Amino acid sequence: MSEYAKNQPTGFKNAIERVAIVGAGGTVGSHLAAALLKTGKHTVTALSRKDSNNKLPEGVIVAPIDYDDEATIVAALKGQQFFIITVSPTVPRDTHSKLVQAAAKAGVPYIMPNGYAGDIDQVKLGEEVMLGPVAKANRDEIERLGMKWITVCCGFWYDYSLAGGEARLGFDFDKRSLTIYDDGNTKNSLSTLSQVGRAVAKVLSFKLLPDDENDKSLTVSRWLNNSVYLKSFVLSQNEIFESVKRVTDTSDADWTITHEDTKKRYADGLALVKTGNRAGFAKLLYARGFYQDDASDCSAKAHNELLGLPEENLDEATKAGVDMVKELQRRVERMNS
Ligand SMILES: NC(=O)c1ccc[n+]([C@@H]2O[C@H](COP(=O)([O-])OP(=O)(O)OC[C@H]3O[C@@H](n4cnc5c(N)ncnc54)[C@H](OP(=O)(O)O)[C@@H]3O)[C@@H](O)[C@H]2O)c1
Repeated sequence: MSEYAKNQPTGFKNAIERVAIVGAGGTVGSHLAAALLKTGKHTVTALSRKDSNNKLPEGVIVAPIDYDDEATIVAALKGQQFFIITVSPTVPRDTHSKLVQAAAKAGVPYIMPNGYAGDIDQVKLGEEVMLGPVAKANRDEIERLGMKWITVCCGFWYDYSLAGGEARLGFDFDKRSLTIYDDGNTKNSLSTLSQVGRAVAKVLSFKLLPDDENDKSLTVSRWLNNSVYLKSFVLSQNEIFESVKRVTDTSDADWTITHEDTKKRYADGLALVKTGNRAGFAKLLYARGFYQDDASDCSAKAHNELLGLPEENLDEATKAGVDMVKELQRRVERMNS
């Protein structure tokens, strides 16, 4: 496709109207689907395993798929303009590739691959948390098959990470304990799940291509084979703790606080992963993200202004995180059962 709308064949519509998504009932996917539906500019087709128990958002078109029958995935993707992949980090290794290969066969031109994490340009960090090379291979496969990608660099999800237990942002709300990494002053960019949804919906609501060489408006094509950067907040653990105390109406005296060196924590997490214990992964991931000399802060690149994303209220986001604690605990129990 040449780069201006004026050069496209008759009948070309300069907009992304048909979006398919895998994981529309999942943690981030549910926010992406809801935000896309809210624009009123997109139909959203949710590809979901035919035996899935995940609840899909109202308003999506459901397309049951079977990962062992590629034809079901290709059929669900036929005619779609943009394919968003949000699959659980615990899926079988070849799941992402199966989706990408089916998308190529269905003729989908653009894919948002799994990721929704830190800055893909922080290559060393990506290697040390083991997610970078996998995400790079996913993007490479998309390009190799003649499609283009847009990935999302949002840092840790604030609400989810706050709720997700000690291994993440250090908070255990049941025990009212907090592990502070190093001195607790290292800052990270963090995004709420709803801000991630809004950012993706904004990008996919622009024109696909500039009309002509004089058209300087924002277009989806600006982000093709590129990253959407966003943030909600840039915070240290100490600052998060201040918000948590306000929201839970507690004081220092109510909390048991320990300090841990991030490098030791990373090594401990890695040792657990090497013994096959998945619990070590979150520990190493967040410890590495809070390294004082190389934190996963991508706020300097954030496209918030470009996308017109709203300023969010920190304590409201903290409350959303606290409210999510039980839900995430139930999810872990379900996954372990
Ligand atoms: N930045 C952060 O803080 C952060 C935190 C967590 C995750 N992430 C990233 O975000 C992405 C999505 O994660 P998520 O937590 O949103 O995912 P999720 O909610 O755990 O799962 C998303 C979907 O994956 C599908 N799925 C689950 N198990 C499957 C299996 N065995 N085979 C095939 N499909 C399966 C389900 O869809 P159906 O049931 O409809 O088939 C589910 O709704 C990942 O790339 C992850 O690494 C980022």
